[in-house]
Amino acid sequence: MSEQVSAGTVIWITGATSGIGRSLAIAYAATGARLILSGRRADALADVQRQCGTTNVHTIPFDLADLDSIPGRAAEAVACFGQVDTMVHNAGLAARERVVNTSRPVHEQILHTNYLGPALLTQALLPAMIERHDGHFVVISSMAGTYGSPQLGAYAAAKHALHGFFESLRAEEYDRGIVVTLVIPGFIKTDITAHALTGSGGSYGRVLSVYDNAMSADECARKIVQAVTTRRQEVVIGGVETWMIQLKRWLPRIHAMVIRSHPVRTRNKILGRIPILGRRWRTPKS
Ligand SMILES: NC(=O)c1ccc[n+]([C@@H]2O[C@H](COP(=O)([O-])OP(=O)(O)OC[C@H]3O[C@@H](n4cnc5c(N)ncnc54)[C@H](OP(=O)(O)O)[C@@H]3O)[C@@H](O)[C@H]2O)c1
Repeated sequence: MSEQVSAGTVIWITGATSGIGRSLAIAYAATGARLILSGRRADALADVQRQCGTTNVHTIPFDLADLDSIPGRAAEAVACFGQVDTMVHNAGLAARERVVNTSRPVHEQILHTNYLGPALLTQALLPAMIERHDGHFVVISSMAGTYGSPQLGAYAAAKHALHGFFESLRAEEYDRGIVVTLVIPGFIKTDITAHALTGSGGSYGRVLSVYDNAMSADECARKIVQAVTTRRQEVVIGGVETWMIQLKRWLPRIHAMVIRSHPVRTRNKILGRIPILGRRWRTPKS
């Protein structure tokens, strides 16, 4: 790491009960940061609090989709250590379903959890940060925040909304000490798809095989800490799947063709034909 996290920095992480958020909590605890950890499951939060191995950790269990509770939760978080220096909007929920079959309650839950909750939390913390001329928002987006893919309509819409909101905020408050880091993970080995919803609101419940060889949550967390410490505007973290972002930018018609087939299978088929990459990117069963 080229720079250090200042010891005592107050960092609030949502979605700290599992996956990337849990790894981030443990990584930040090792830097001497003071932590506030959130998620819906109080018992899982207490486990992560123990794993952090420091007394400087508070937990605030709450449901981000309960929008009316957000100003109160923000006040609770500020009361823990007197201020929040860095807000990590990590909590997220995916839905895997075609647009035609996605119900309104699922649209609402995905939008509230991934976008509206974080947006309202940001607005609640912002005035005090502007007054101090110091505040950092770290936003865990997704490649689905940069392009839409089959079965990810609701999730991609919510992640795109995050980009619009936080890029606007970054430009508005640049001169008043507010920093925004947008993190775009590729495939990270977590249970995100197991936790995902179906179009009717049931549990998707499967871990897709594309995650078999994916980057670990711990490695992803280390890279996020580094990007935040160096105040990056945007960082893409993952493996070769992240090339899809460049493909969209430079060859959008080929990107569209790949996306409308099964994106992962097609990508692996193409890369598998390139001898030097072939062994690594032979199509997994999915
Ligand atoms: N894994 C990947 O490949 C990948 C790729 C791109 C982006 N991401 C993003 O990375 C972030 C972390 O995901 P992950 O992969 O670590 O998945 P995960 O293990 O499923 O973690 C999701 C976290 O969000 C919390 N959460 C979900 N709904 C919530 C709600 N309504 N209120 C409060 N907390 C809620 C969950 O806690 P509770 O269940 O306790 O509420 C959990 O801690 C998400 O924003 C996800 O979109 C992940």
